[in-house]
Amino acid sequence: MAGYAQQFRQLDDVLSRNKAFWQFMPFAEKDCVWLQTHPEMCAWLNSLNEQQLEELNADSDKLVAALSCWIPDAAVLHQLSLCQPLASMDIDVPYGLNTGIPGRKWTQINAFNAALPRLQLPWLEWCAGKGYLGRILAATHDMPVTSLEWQQQLCVDGEASAKQLKLPIHFVQADAFDESSDPHIQSKQHAVALHACGDLHVSLLQRVVERQGAAVSVSPCCYHLIRSEIYQPLSYTAKQSTISLNKHDLRLPLQETVTAGKRIRRQRFLEVSFRLGFDSLQRHLLDNDEYLPVPNVHKALLNEGFVAFCLWAAEKKNIELRPNIDFEYWQQEGERRHGIIERMELVRQLFRRPLEMWLVLDRVCYLEQSNYDVSLGTFCDKPVTPRNILIHAERKDS
Ligand SMILES: C[S@@+](CC[C@H](N)C(=O)[O-])C[C@H]1O[C@@H](n2cnc3c(N)ncnc32)[C@H](O)[C@@H]1O
Repeated sequence: MAGYAQQFRQLDDVLSRNKAFWQFMPFAEKDCVWLQTHPEMCAWLNSLNEQQLEELNADSDKLVAALSCWIPDAAVLHQLSLCQPLASMDIDVPYGLNTGIPGRKWTQINAFNAALPRLQLPWLEWCAGKGYLGRILAATHDMPVTSLEWQQQLCVDGEASAKQLKLPIHFVQADAFDESSDPHIQSKQHAVALHACGDLHVSLLQRVVERQGAAVSVSPCCYHLIRSEIYQPLSYTAKQSTISLNKHDLRLPLQETVTAGKRIRRQRFLEVSFRLGFDSLQRHLLDNDEYLPVPNVHKALLNEGFVAFCLWAAEKKNIELRPNIDFEYWQQEGERRHGIIERMELVRQLFRRPLEMWLVLDRVCYLEQSNYDVSLGTFCDKPVTPRNILIHAERKDS
């Protein structure tokens, strides 16, 4: 039991000590932020070509080995954030159950189901979508399912599929945050939430605890989708931490570098470097060294070039562009900053899974402190979904 709290404290300690490597906004910086403290690391980062960057981003062991000489905690961080696969059962799934479910989702929900203990309790599926998970739970556990979902159309579609498949699933159209959803959380019940974003799964955990639910299993995602500006720790253990996380910090666990095709990579390069070039230009024009966010842009505008982008952005931000601006210079400045950001993000990658584990362990400690036995592990491999962590808790006295 003390195991998870201890793991949290160790992780917390190492993450706090290394804040300077992950807790900042690379996008707002004009130069590598470690130039003074770690000039050799900056020189090494600078020397990396695109292929090397890609290789290091894709291979966490390689990244740990490469950065360990400047970030001595890299290996221990990696060790502390390992998450073992949960035991999984072979479950016979009736034929035809997957109708209309996309292939990867089907693999995900099968794996999620296979990792859940069979407690012979009715199910509550929180933020159910079309109730794909509920479908497999109803079909393989012989227990009724209540699927709570906000979007009316998803409820209608889910209900129709359940009827067609003759499964005991009842949809409830409701706002998970609203008090009126409370009665759907009951003590003799196994509540589940697969990828209910941020506060949605947190609110389930809190209300299961309040209502003394027998069991709850969640796979957390979208940690940044919270209603407060700053992350509110759940456990006593995390409340003692000196780490305070804003929404930007909370995005880090989701920032997986996916290898995209050439066209997408090119478009991304254009957009990011144009934004950064415009940012540097506006700082110069307004004589104010602060990052200025610009709204979403139609991708077609990027094909019209940097000058067109600046004219659009200046209009959106009410900034007057003087005559004789050297746009070529500012475009190059944007490209330079793009390269620096990619390299700073490489270092931040080292902290991605550790920060996710910090958040996950906060949930685990909260449940332990609330009289639950908790198990924690992955329910599928990362290619199936990078949000592959499952927290399962059973109330001790139920
Ligand atoms: C990422 S999807 C996950 C759906 C499903 N659990 C799955 O894994 O396929 C999150 C779901 O939460 C629902 N949702 C969002 N806000 C909600 C709220 N306040 N109350 C209930 N459901 C909500 C969305 O409509 C969406 O269907």
